[in-house]
Amino acid sequence: MDAKRLGRLHDLGITPWVTRHGSQPAVAREPRPATPPGPAPVSLTVQSAATKDGRAAAIAAMDWTALKAAVTACTACGLRAGCTQTVFGVGDERAKWLVIGEAPGAEEDKQGEPFVGRAGQLLNSMLAAIGLKREQVYIANVLKCRPPGNRDPKPEEAELCRPFLERQIALIRPKIILAVGRIAAQNLLHTDTTIGRLRGTVHRLGDVPLVVTYHPAYLLRSPGEKRKAWADLKLAVRTAGAGA
Ligand code: URA
Repeated sequence: MDAKRLGRLHDLGITPWVTRHGSQPAVAREPRPATPPGPAPVSLTVQSAATKDGRAAAIAAMDWTALKAAVTACTACGLRAGCTQTVFGVGDERAKWLVIGEAPGAEEDKQGEPFVGRAGQLLNSMLAAIGLKREQVYIANVLKCRPPGNRDPKPEEAELCRPFLERQIALIRPKIILAVGRIAAQNLLHTDTTIGRLRGTVHRLGDVPLVVTYHPAYLLRSPGEKRKAWADLKLAVRTAGAGA
């Protein structure tokens, strides 16, 4: 293990475990089939959507270009009126790893990119600890707009935003989803089970394995929990490697 990586693990409060041969978790990408070409962009305005199902179906047929435009134009839940801009997501659109957080915070709202504040720095370190660069993964949130005062997303907001995230997942076709934080995990899995109970096992979102870990903002406040997060990351590496 090189010195840089040891330093990153140290940032995570982790004394790394190294095999006799110094091998590290394998996160090598496998060759993947090309994403099927998307259908022609579908125009979507919430006002003209006949039904919730119709809206979800229209979103489910979008390609990346149409999806980005639809998120930018969305005013479905009212959060857009109070935020600076939508925060679509960032990273490799064919990534093996998809990281899903809660919602943009103040810095993300300003910059239009998820996880760019202090929590984002720690997320980058967590990824680096398992040999992944931020650019190699895709990062998105349950909500594309910042809730005022960073309050928790309301169920109806998450529900209205969900088709966008589902389409992102369908287009990316990740090998593993890492849900960071209680809100992301509970929304994705439609449960109110505590994060303490959700972490430590492999869930599924459709046919994609999903591992839950603590939100980096929580880890900044509770560094003693970083060991558990490291265990979660190793579980995710094993799961992704198993090619589930
Ligand atoms: N917290 C999140 O859950 N998402 C972000 O994008 C930033 C902070």
